[in-house]
Amino acid sequence: MRSHYCGHVTEELIDQEVTLCGWVNRRRDHGGVIFVDLRDREGLVQIVFDPDREDVFETAERIRNEYVLRVKGLVRARDEATINEKLATGKIEVLGKELTVLNAAETPPFQLDDDDVHDDLRLRYRYIDLRRDEMQQRMRLRNKVTRYLRNYLDSNGFWEIETPMLTKATPEGARDYLVPSRTHNGQFFALPQSPQLFKQLLMMSGMDRYYQVVRCFRDEDLRADRQPEFTQLDIETSFMGEEAVMEINEEMIRGLFKEVLDVDLPNPFPRMTYAEAMEHYGSDKPDLRIPLLLVDLAEEMKDVEFKVFSGPANDPKGRVVVMRLPGGAELSRKEIDDYTDYVGRYGAKGLAWIKVNDVDAGRDGLQSPIVKFLPDEVLEAIISKTKTKSGDILFFGAGDARIVNESIGALRVKLGKDRGLVSDEWKPLFVVAFPMFEDDGKGGLTPLHHPFTAPATNSPEMLKQEPEAMLSRAYDMVLNGTELGGGSVRIHDMEMQKAVLDLLGISDEVAEDKFGFLLNALKYGCPPHAGIAFGLDRLIMLMSGASSIRDVMAFPKTQTAACPLTSAPSAVSNAQLKELNLRLRKQETEQPSS
Ligand code: AMO
Ligand code: AMP
Repeated sequence: MRSHYCGHVTEELIDQEVTLCGWVNRRRDHGGVIFVDLRDREGLVQIVFDPDREDVFETAERIRNEYVLRVKGLVRARDEATINEKLATGKIEVLGKELTVLNAAETPPFQLDDDDVHDDLRLRYRYIDLRRDEMQQRMRLRNKVTRYLRNYLDSNGFWEIETPMLTKATPEGARDYLVPSRTHNGQFFALPQSPQLFKQLLMMSGMDRYYQVVRCFRDEDLRADRQPEFTQLDIETSFMGEEAVMEINEEMIRGLFKEVLDVDLPNPFPRMTYAEAMEHYGSDKPDLRIPLLLVDLAEEMKDVEFKVFSGPANDPKGRVVVMRLPGGAELSRKEIDDYTDYVGRYGAKGLAWIKVNDVDAGRDGLQSPIVKFLPDEVLEAIISKTKTKSGDILFFGAGDARIVNESIGALRVKLGKDRGLVSDEWKPLFVVAFPMFEDDGKGGLTPLHHPFTAPATNSPEMLKQEPEAMLSRAYDMVLNGTELGGGSVRIHDMEMQKAVLDLLGISDEVAEDKFGFLLNALKYGCPPHAGIAFGLDRLIMLMSGASSIRDVMAFPKTQTAACPLTSAPSAVSNAQLKELNLRLRKQETEQPSS
């Protein structure tokens, strides 16, 4: 049907005949001559139809945007004056000799070059949206990335093995998507939140090194970097410890960036403990491109009069921090108020600040609603600890440690972006030495990763002594403030696995019901094993510069986890419900307020 892609027709083909297929990107009538930009996956080429060939010209007059054409023609050089340097095919044009309309097209619901199309419309007509060059480039990149990763893992002895989609719940902290079983009345499959348990079983099966490009399903609140179904590059190895796993994975990511983007990532990636990340960045996924740091003031604030600071400084669950913004003394009252509202969204009760107009003028050089509450020696200590200079502003967060970390951590990123402080670099790192558990807010413990993560001890007794203080053997790979992947050394000992489930308040009965198969498998010769899973969509989002993972998925869901293209989810027939022995409850109606 065709001899070349539109985007591949260059000067080398001058005076040759080509046959091209593609979509009409644009048609222009120029006093008797018709120009058509014909588009395919590889690019655009200009076709010229002149009136000498009457039948062809008549057809050309009929065609509209997005018609699908087949054109046979002669490649010729463009006049010097009409050369388009921006186009790979900009030095030539094709003189159309034969023209077949393979298909007509209605006027599309939006123009392909319109940047301001509502997301819902884009998703409803995704097949048109995907024709845009930007989207085609993203799909191309996605293909390149996946192929590189597969090749790398293949050449390192990893086998790609598929695991079930219709399965039992895997606890990764989100709600499950359930699928009713027709053959087992009243029973449900869960779609996997990850292949975690299966990949561990594969290690117990002696597969040694496994990977999978795999769809995962999580019913959770959606954000720019979260979709209800997304793709992981899932990896598991036997007889490798955390250092070896991190090494092979960072080598893979370094190789990927070099190959696809020609970017040199650091070798090795820096390692940072969870404690350090929280202390200086207020986050377990620090964006190292931003030069602002949180500085702890617990010692300095213990005895001050100002209760807002001294309270948390004396509370083991509290925290007081300061963050210096160089040059920030120029911020207006309105800007500071806006930042105060911003931290308020994370639960902060306020955002105290000190503008340092003249660092050598003592108290007189400071402008702030709170200096009156702070003694000279404390002010001096803060200024020296933060290396503050004239013209800077200091922001303070005080209160519950979690709220301070989240709010000031988020403010750090926001200020970085607002003030143009984000350096133009790639900053990967591994965050390590996570705590095993965190407070679930209800007096119990919840795993920081998942319940199969090994603690930093081989003794279940040690773990039970002070579980809150126990570190795990988990590691996260973070890039520019995004968690790209996470993994750990796993528990391969049944006693330890039971101890962890026990600490999580999961009774033997529930454990048996939920993961009995895993506990059982641990009895029959389980090798030490470890692994990691990357969020493939996130990786491609970062590499392509897209602002949402939706932009790198061919058919993503909306913010409310729906698909406007297929109108999924949708109601099912009574017959289908009956077959599944399901009945829908009446929607609970809201009580009229009195
Ligand atoms: P985790 O839950 O950290 O670990 O997931 C691994 C990576 O998957 C990506 N990710 C997501 N991407 C898009 N949308 C989502 N809703 C979403 N949720 C997670 C993130 C994350 O780092 N089984 C473990 C891995 C292991 O221990 O080997 C797991 O799933 O980039
Ligand atoms: P107040 O005494 O409530 O008027 O607060 C004095 C200053 O402290 C104001 O600038 C508040 O924004 C700030 N502030 C109040 N609570 C906090 C807090 N928990 N963390 C940081 N700053 C606070």
